[in-house]
Amino acid sequence: MDLAIAGKNALVLASSRGLGKGIAAALAKEGANVIMCGRTADLLQANCDAINSQGGGRADWIQGDLCDLHFADSVATEALHKLGRVDILVNNSGGPPPGSTEDMTEVKLLSHFQSMVLNLIGIANRLLPGMKDIGWGRILTVASSGVIEPIPGLALSNTLRPALAGWSKTLASEIARFGVTSNMLLPGSIQTDRLNSLNMIAAERSGRTVEQVSADAQTAIPIGRYGTVEEFAATAAFLCSAPASYITGAVIRCDGGSSRSV
Ligand SMILES: NC(=O)c1ccc[n+]([C@@H]2O[C@H](COP(=O)([O-])OP(=O)(O)OC[C@H]3O[C@@H](n4cnc5c(N)ncnc54)[C@H](OP(=O)(O)O)[C@@H]3O)[C@@H](O)[C@H]2O)c1
Repeated sequence: MDLAIAGKNALVLASSRGLGKGIAAALAKEGANVIMCGRTADLLQANCDAINSQGGGRADWIQGDLCDLHFADSVATEALHKLGRVDILVNNSGGPPPGSTEDMTEVKLLSHFQSMVLNLIGIANRLLPGMKDIGWGRILTVASSGVIEPIPGLALSNTLRPALAGWSKTLASEIARFGVTSNMLLPGSIQTDRLNSLNMIAAERSGRTVEQVSADAQTAIPIGRYGTVEEFAATAAFLCSAPASYITGAVIRCDGGSSRSV
């Protein structure tokens, strides 16, 4: 299938590693020009070099910290300066530390609200007018399967990400007539640094080995294994594509069947 995004311009947040990096590569493979964003300059440069050596869309990067109050202003301005316009926004962020509701102080809540919610909405607010003007746009927000089934021990994630779900759905109805879609993509367990570090913490806390934690977790997934970044990124690229024009306001799971609800 031709995703028909060659020549489109995409901004992918939190893309120095993991899911964001994979999505940027998948979009570029389809011919979209991508801007990656994160805090680690050398990783971003290496990702761009890899994409630019492969043909397809061109890649560039912007350094930005989602905890920064001015992130949305500075990154949107720089992205528009580099690209002229942004057609595709992939709203992704770093994941919060694990913890219970008791660990979730108001200070922690506020700072993660800034990096996981406020700056994602802020950047969409700044890029949406351009999408509406040309009558085409895609906003894809990456969250977590915890939006559907809260995950024990991830209180910050379970508490903050549903705000993005409410926003993404509300936005979808408001912008649909402009040819702009807004969807959410929820990872279950996809093999990235984040998953590895959560497994290490679980191993330390339970006295098991990381291998045991990982094997037990994969057995509990109906497909019987973790997902790959490539599988997740392919789903994301489709949701950002031209043929996905009638999908909006959706919450799509990429979780190997883990969420048990319909
Ligand atoms: N992988 C999974 O199975 C899974 C499951 C459920 C939910 N999720 C969620 O999906 C998102 C991506 O997960 P992942 O597995 O790709 O995580 P990852 O491998 O840890 O990568 C996180 C990315 O976020 C960036 N980042 C972190 N903090 C940032 C900040 N303050 N400002 C700017 N960029 C920042 C990191 O770049 P720098 O360090 O260079 O800034 C990195 O590129 C996270 O929110 C995670 O919680 C993942």
